Amino acid sequence: MRRAAILPALLLLALPLAAQEPVKRSAAWDANCSVCHGDDGRGQTEEGLKKKARNLADPKWQASVSDGRLTSSIQRGHDKMPAFGRKLSAEQVKALVAEIRALVKQGS
Ligand code: HEC
Repeated sequence: MRRAAILPALLLLALPLAAQEPVKRSAAWDANCSVCHGDDGRGQTEEGLKKKARNLADPKWQASVSDGRLTSSIQRGHDKMPAFGRKLSAEQVKALVAEIRALVKQGS
């Protein structure tokens, strides 16, 4: 009887903790982008700071760029950002653009 009550109580405790977990990035992001842009897209990594990666989670900047611009920057590179057009498929780049857009919606 007691044991049966403990399990749901533990689950209830665990739920809010799970909601606060940092956002998981896609495998493509982890493998190619995190080193400079970080998990949160803000570019506060050693490489990102060195290369002056911009804050991809900035809503103002996001509002000023089109999906086409993001796609071409990822595929062809931009300033110190390397090109990924040969490494990633068009589908992967499209998914990464959506992932960048989601940085703002998540408020992270
Ligand atoms: C070697 C470091 C590095 C890596 C790896 C990297 N970036 Fe960047 N990225 C940068 C830098 C530096 C800038 C800033 C360039 C600028 O402001 O024009 C940038 C800018 C961007 C921009 C904005 C470009 C624009 O049009 O203003 C996007 C979008 C972006 N990166 C996405 C990605 C994605 C997606 C990946 C992974 C596939 C990635 N980056 C990997 C360094 C990197």
